[in-house]
Amino acid sequence: MPIDYTERIPNNVDLADDRRLKRALESWQPKFLDWWQTLGPALPTQDVYLRTAVDVGRAGWAHFGHVALPEYRWGIFLADRKPDRRIAFGQEMGAPVWQQVPGEYRADLQRLIVVQGDTEPASVEQQRHLGMTAPSLYDLRNLFQVNVEEGRHLWAMVYLLHAYFGREGRDEAENLLVRNSGSEESPRILGAFNEETPDWLSFYMFTYFTDRDGKYQLGTLKESAFDPLSRTCEFMLKEEAHHMMVGTTGVDRVVRRTAEVMRERDTDEVAAYGAIPLSVIQKYLNFHYSVSLDLFGSETSTNAANYFTAGLKGRWMEERRKDDHRLTDAFTEIGTVRDDQLTGVEIPSLIGLNQDLRDEYAADCAGGVKRWNAILTDAGLDARLYLPHQGFNRKVGAYSGHHITPDGRIVAAEEWEAGRDTWLPTPDDKAYVESLMRPVYDPGKIAAWVAPPSNGINGKPFDYEYVHLI
Ligand SMILES: [Fe+2]
Ligand SMILES: [Fe+2]
Repeated sequence: MPIDYTERIPNNVDLADDRRLKRALESWQPKFLDWWQTLGPALPTQDVYLRTAVDVGRAGWAHFGHVALPEYRWGIFLADRKPDRRIAFGQEMGAPVWQQVPGEYRADLQRLIVVQGDTEPASVEQQRHLGMTAPSLYDLRNLFQVNVEEGRHLWAMVYLLHAYFGREGRDEAENLLVRNSGSEESPRILGAFNEETPDWLSFYMFTYFTDRDGKYQLGTLKESAFDPLSRTCEFMLKEEAHHMMVGTTGVDRVVRRTAEVMRERDTDEVAAYGAIPLSVIQKYLNFHYSVSLDLFGSETSTNAANYFTAGLKGRWMEERRKDDHRLTDAFTEIGTVRDDQLTGVEIPSLIGLNQDLRDEYAADCAGGVKRWNAILTDAGLDARLYLPHQGFNRKVGAYSGHHITPDGRIVAAEEWEAGRDTWLPTPDDKAYVESLMRPVYDPGKIAAWVAPPSNGINGKPFDYEYVHLI
């Protein structure tokens, strides 16, 4: 059923039939718009070529057109209900999924939704100033597309809080607009969402590595026995695919431009020619990968075990796993540090579920590196990018507190500190990247540090007027 855009809050959840809920969400709406005006995209625009969801079905779910940003129609869309959906894992495996929140899991489910919800507006805040320095109108448009959809993901979580968690849920919905990325007094819940995204290399890395964490978290919540959460996440994942594309092809294009200049000038020192040295790209990669790994939490977690057993949160691709989906007798090996040595330790699989998800994520991340290296190979270059060891630069879990190099050696604190500037972006690297950030707003033009995309959006050419500035 196509979504009715004449409603104040477009939705496919029959909001018109629930006056209380409708009123509650309508009173949250102006607060959201206030937040968007204050902490959303800082660059004023006339309109932007955006996609808006018009249906949740398989075919033709989105409409493309120029929209004035503040008039974007953020709505509430859940994927279609699957008749007779059953719980796919945990102690209640095989039972019908829940359409309401069971009392005993209320607090846990609310927490999971709040933590997910908190990341959505956080990334909009982190990316607020990037519009000032976009390398092309195409990139500017993609930034705004990601921003409006993260805004919609906030709506998705706020809907669940309002519809299923009563007064506490409504309070939590308010708080999602009170916490701010990087704020001293009231920061966002997770570390990576309080980091800055000051430049476009960071933005591409963020959408590649940190949005990808989001994809994996949503994948576990999509398995949830709480059906409205599952359906919400299923539709969010559909939108998230574009964010991954922005990151993957963004880094592609930076690497491609760097490779071109390396070949033309026969040097690694491409900064002299306005490109970003591979060593700097590697450092940004190291940083974004390591802070994103922290988002998966500790390798061992009784919370994760309890969520799984209760049916609140499954594994990535739960239904494709070939085991009993209960894991009560299963064991798994996780990485850890013992006597200053990196080693493995066998633990009950239930306790190791965070590591399970992190490994799925890491394998996915390796795919990007492979692509980027193929670009280097095609350019006839020997240099390669790599993913650092999972223990590198970690603040959470078994590796935190140890000094682990990108190639996976435990070293003394002094040695690690001595290597820091070759592994992580230095103030000079950041200043250099920042110096390249100059807006290019002529249709069809692009900044010198990045290659143009091979495809436009929705079949439009690269030189299409994706954004009309004021
Ligand atoms: Fe999102
Ligand atoms: Fe995203």
